[in-house]
Amino acid sequence: MTSCFQLSVRPGSSASVLVTLLVTLLVTGLVGCSDAPKPQAAPYEPVLDLHDLMNSVLDPATDVIWGAAGAVITAEGEQDLAPVDDAGWQAVFNAAAVVTETGNLLMLPGRAEDNGDWMEYSSALITTGKEAMAAAEAKDAQAVFDVGGKLYLVCVACHQSYSLDEE
Ligand code: HEC
Repeated sequence: MTSCFQLSVRPGSSASVLVTLLVTLLVTGLVGCSDAPKPQAAPYEPVLDLHDLMNSVLDPATDVIWGAAGAVITAEGEQDLAPVDDAGWQAVFNAAAVVTETGNLLMLPGRAEDNGDWMEYSSALITTGKEAMAAAEAKDAQAVFDVGGKLYLVCVACHQSYSLDEE
């Protein structure tokens, strides 16, 4: 029994006899109403639409990771982008944490576009984000560079599947 029900019947009718029987069964515990708590409205509240979640949360965090890997050529010569101090590595770790948890945010009802590919790409964001966190924790510049490339492929794969032009 998963639900309670109400009947309105005329006294003396055969339905009334049935109800009496049912009430007896209920009282004796043979037939029970489920006392499971009513489902509550979920307390979470997605605030940003996809466009803003990408622009204000995921993209800036990803930029920190990409900006901390590899090298750029400047007038002064080649400049290594890898962090040089603990604060720098911490910033990469924090950004990777944001990327990771954004995978979960993308899966929330109201955000998720479907239950298939969308969930796969969001999961890939979590997996890759965790790798980026580990790379930052290990202060491994090559690993951050490599995972940055993998991350890019996750972004592109989802954008292509959902018909977004890649810049
Ligand atoms: C699960 C799917 C998915 C993944 C993974 C994903 N995106 Fe997106 N992204 C979208 C969708 C859908 C849009 C279009 C949103 C809109 O404008 O309605 C979008 C749009 C964007 C935009 C453009 C926002 C705008 O409309 O101006 C940027 C920037 C962006 N994504 C960055 C990223 C980066 C960086 C990554 C990887 C780290 C990434 N996205 C991974 C689904 C995804």
